[in-house]
Amino acid sequence: MKISIFSGVLLISAALISVDGQTWAQFQNKHINAGMTAVQCTQVIKARGIVNPRNSCKVFNTFITGNVTAVRAICGKGGGVPHGNNGMRISTARFIIVDCKLVNQNPPAVPPHCQYNGVTRDNRRIIVTCKNSKPVHFNGSKYSVTT
Ligand SMILES: *[C@@H]1O[C@H](CO)[C@@H](O)[C@H](O)[C@H]1NC(C)=O
Repeated sequence: MKISIFSGVLLISAALISVDGQTWAQFQNKHINAGMTAVQCTQVIKARGIVNPRNSCKVFNTFITGNVTAVRAICGKGGGVPHGNNGMRISTARFIIVDCKLVNQNPPAVPPHCQYNGVTRDNRRIIVTCKNSKPVHFNGSKYSVTT
């Protein structure tokens, strides 16, 4: 019994990881938008169809406002360095990001009616997981005024 509960938990976490485990194309759709500003959150998230797996509003999403080439470089030599011990990398360059947070509504909004508030943050070093030398998961960012 203990074992089956344990393997159930393992299965659930494997499912969550695979939902979260993205491709480079999905990463670009979800996390890169060169030149984006904070007021564009609602429109961009809607236009790109960024929702939770079972079609509910995503509570939080971050966009890197740099171009695709600059973001991809994080996974290559010079563009990023290893970060922590889970195979992540942190960018050497600093980027401007836009954090989009779902506006709580009562009753809760469902896609395509999700509304977001955006906040711009500058001087962020980006932390990603790379696969085949391309970012596939956005792990976060770190404020840094020095490299
Ligand atoms: C992408 O960004 C990098 C770094 O800011 C810049 O050097 C490069 O010219 C940009 N490329 C394009 C296609 O805009």
